[in-house]
Amino acid sequence: MKAKTPEQSKTTMTDMVLPSETNPLNNLFGGELLARMDRAASIAARRHSRRIVVTASVNHVAFNRAVPLGSVVTVEAKVSRAFNTSMEIYIDVWMEDRESGERTKANEAIYTFVAVDSTGKPVKVPEVLPETKIEKERFDAALRRKQLSLLLAGKIKPNEAKELKALFD
Ligand SMILES: CC(C)(COP(=O)(O)OP(=O)(O)OC[C@H]1O[C@@H](n2cnc3c(N)ncnc32)[C@H](O)[C@@H]1OP(=O)(O)O)[C@@H](O)C(=O)NCCC(=O)NCCS
Repeated sequence: MKAKTPEQSKTTMTDMVLPSETNPLNNLFGGELLARMDRAASIAARRHSRRIVVTASVNHVAFNRAVPLGSVVTVEAKVSRAFNTSMEIYIDVWMEDRESGERTKANEAIYTFVAVDSTGKPVKVPEVLPETKIEKERFDAALRRKQLSLLLAGKIKPNEAKELKALFD
């Protein structure tokens, strides 16, 4: 199984914020952004694995900036690391200024997807070969995030999360 770079799974989705997608403050509704990020992450995971993929976990979401009605929003998803059957997807969300066209980082999120066969059984995925500095940083930290996610889900014990524990020693 040939390793792939994060660039090979890169998925970019650009769309506007419509009135039906906003909260009472006329900003993008959080659930709408979660759905857009899930869709982009799902395509990135599929491009990396060329398999059916399912969302296993939403590991982190930071709604740092409100996204006003009418904004042009770009969701960019890349597989940051693959393990055995699971993949971490890192998602960056950008807003585009109408006049200057300048992009501002609005939010980010990290999802875990699992590749499965037609019966839903997890199957092996290719490794990730990070290239840029940020891709390498995200690759390195992904193991700790996987351990934290499994710990919070009650799927591993604290003494099994060695790399995560090392952060606090
Ligand atoms: C995701 C799913 C396939 C995992 O099945 P499972 O029986 O737990 O399988 P495993 O224990 O072998 O785990 C498979 C992989 O997922 C990872 N995983 C499972 N739960 C996880 C979690 N909460 N956080 C991070 N990784 C997780 C495991 O570590 C394993 O990774 P690895 O093979 O790369 O080491 C299964 O739980 C499922 O189908 N869930 C429903 C998915 C779905 O419908 N999503 C949409 C929600 S509406």
